Amino acid sequence: MLKNKKIVIVGGGSGIGYAVAQQALEAGAQVIIASRSRQKLSAAAKQLGGGVQTEVVDATNDESVADFFRRVGHSDHLAVTIKPPLPAGRFLENEVDAVMAAFDAKFWGQYRLAKQGAQYVRQNGSITFTSGIASRRSYPGYSAVSAMNAATEALTKAIAIELAPIRVNTVCPGFVNTEPPTPGRAQHVKTLVSTLPMNRPGMTSEIADAYLYLFSNSYSTGAVVVVDGGAIC
Ligand SMILES: NC(=O)c1ccc[n+]([C@@H]2O[C@H](COP(=O)([O-])OP(=O)(O)OC[C@H]3O[C@@H](n4cnc5c(N)ncnc54)[C@H](OP(=O)(O)O)[C@@H]3O)[C@@H](O)[C@H]2O)c1
Repeated sequence: MLKNKKIVIVGGGSGIGYAVAQQALEAGAQVIIASRSRQKLSAAAKQLGGGVQTEVVDATNDESVADFFRRVGHSDHLAVTIKPPLPAGRFLENEVDAVMAAFDAKFWGQYRLAKQGAQYVRQNGSITFTSGIASRRSYPGYSAVSAMNAATEALTKAIAIELAPIRVNTVCPGFVNTEPPTPGRAQHVKTLVSTLPMNRPGMTSEIADAYLYLFSNSYSTGAVVVVDGGAIC
């Protein structure tokens, strides 16, 4: 179903986006990965193989985003998996400027890419954002992340009705084993996932499955697909 489809993944040089690129390639798609670092993208493309195209873009910059879409042209599916440094302090400790900078990349970056990218996505295509489980579960130190993830999910539903027949969806990952795990983060994630029915962090490939589903399923729009190992209690 994705054979020869053109799939653009902003944030595709690492982590979840890289796994999406890998699975899209396996499905026979033409894949473009994009982010700020040309070096990181080249290394990722070499590892992915399969003639993956790379494009530099900074999602926090309107002009950079406009140039990016002019270069890339029309595509079938646009996925955004960008992750800026996220403030991890408690609400009263976080600097407002740091929270706003993270919001600018994670939320406004996705907003900007969808706003400028919509005209380049084919009418039967899709846009897929990324939120995260802090949109619906509360964890100490995640107030900023909760807010930007919830905003992303709300935007998904709002623009799905305006951009139709282009479909707009969001993948909401739980805690994922992304590289490289710092010792502090590894312990933190271990504690958080110990209450999950699955009792482990997710793998990037397990999260990527949801993007592939949303690219392929022509009746899903305005949806948030949660892949979190069962963060229900
Ligand atoms: N990992 C988790 O446990 C987890 C859990 C819940 C939700 N999520 C969400 O899932 C998504 C992917 O997370 P991840 O851990 O896989 O991310 P990641 O690998 O750390 O980062 C993804 C990519 O974002 C790119 N990026 C950052 N700022 C950018 C900008 N301004 N413009 C363009 N590209 C930018 C980076 O490349 P450059 O440096 O080259 O720009 C990087 O390759 C994020 O939205 C994250 O919040 C992750």
